[in-house]
Amino acid sequence: MTRTGSPSPIAPQDLLEALSDLHPELTILTAEDLAGRHPGEHSENFGAQVMAQPSSTEAAAALVTWCAAHDVTVVPQGGLTGLVGGSISRSGEVILSTARLNRILSIEPEEMTATVEAGVTLEALQQAAARHGLTTGIDLGSRGTATVGGMVSTNAGGILAFRNGVMRHQVLGLEAVLPSGAVLCDLTRVVKVSAGPDLKQLFIGGEGAFGFVTRVVLKLEPQRPHRATALVGVADARSALALVRHFRSLPALALEAAEMMWPRYIRDHAALKGLDLSWLETEAAALLIEVSGESVEAATSALEAGLEQSWEPLDLQGGIVAQSLDQARRFWDIREDSGFYYAEIPLAASFDISVPPLFLDAYVAGLESRLKAIDPTYAAYVYGHIADGNLHLTLIKQGPLPEAELRAVERAVYAGIHEAGGSFSAEHGVGLEKRHGYEGFVSPEKQALGRALKQALDPKGLFNPGKVPF
Ligand code: LAC
Ligand code: ZN
Repeated sequence: MTRTGSPSPIAPQDLLEALSDLHPELTILTAEDLAGRHPGEHSENFGAQVMAQPSSTEAAAALVTWCAAHDVTVVPQGGLTGLVGGSISRSGEVILSTARLNRILSIEPEEMTATVEAGVTLEALQQAAARHGLTTGIDLGSRGTATVGGMVSTNAGGILAFRNGVMRHQVLGLEAVLPSGAVLCDLTRVVKVSAGPDLKQLFIGGEGAFGFVTRVVLKLEPQRPHRATALVGVADARSALALVRHFRSLPALALEAAEMMWPRYIRDHAALKGLDLSWLETEAAALLIEVSGESVEAATSALEAGLEQSWEPLDLQGGIVAQSLDQARRFWDIREDSGFYYAEIPLAASFDISVPPLFLDAYVAGLESRLKAIDPTYAAYVYGHIADGNLHLTLIKQGPLPEAELRAVERAVYAGIHEAGGSFSAEHGVGLEKRHGYEGFVSPEKQALGRALKQALDPKGLFNPGKVPF
């Protein structure tokens, strides 16, 4: 069944009354409580005006059981850092938030695993793991706000995906409340489970359409604190990838990041933040490279030596190795504060795609000409996680675009990706905003299977309706 989420007939006031005494570990927030809070990346995230915050799985199950019995739709929410409208809610719905499910339940240093509640932020887990010399295998710019549950639900990727895979590859076990109110507890703490199909995968990247994730077991990895960071000028993605390959082949180093910023992005952002780019050749893109080694000195000299060796063969176009932590942070800010352009171009159309890395240069060149064919003034900011082929693209124009123009831009952005073996959505999910990509590029058979699974788990279409798009 594909419901596009017609709001339930229950008024928020009646919902509040019914839910207020449902379970002692369930806090209900009203419109008044929500008024002063930041709704995250989408102004309509709090549209429901009723937020349930369970502090236990049992309380979450009680809420969901009640909603199932009364045909009330449920919109799961985590840290609200999502960029595709997956958390948008409307009047008559109940927001089910992980805000009070924020305990780190255990860290097992010998096993290198952590068991956490879904509302724990990535940064809180990183800080707790650091006390054992460990860290998470996934890292991303919104670490301070993004929650483990939200990262599971969008199958987040980030900076380390080229080395460690994405969220899916880090999750060992998971617990979720199903749309019926039943609790699926699959908290295995081992890598190897060959006991039938791995059904928890349905919740990883499921964007809250199949259930509400309450607990997660994650892999951890050793911290590598001794870092060296550089910004390097590159002519194209091919040179950047060759440099990535070189640094990945050096036994004394581990490559920690390879983030590329195409010329317009690095130049505009550096100008805004006052970062000197006099070392960078005029037409060059910038690659942020970070490596770790036995000591900061060892990492720094190996990074410098690696760059020197590659300079001529890869035609590097300038480079600067950070001389202090503060300088490294400034480099990172240019890459991670990637929303800098929204001040100038609010609501600009943005995309998050992946292509096989060797296809990147052809893709970017093709994209530029396809955009110019729509409108000769069109240009895009292009940047991303180069080593796994994930690009973020933003049309440099204030949004929202008229519907027909947005469709044309989508066609320009998505052209060739599917055929090349990439994805119209790499790490941000589908939510509400990328549904045309889903409908256009996910095969009819896979879409039908998705709908059949949705029907089996959520026959009334009460969980995050209209997203993914189910
Ligand atoms: C980033 C977010 C947008 O990589 O995914 O900056
Ligand atoms: Zn990203």
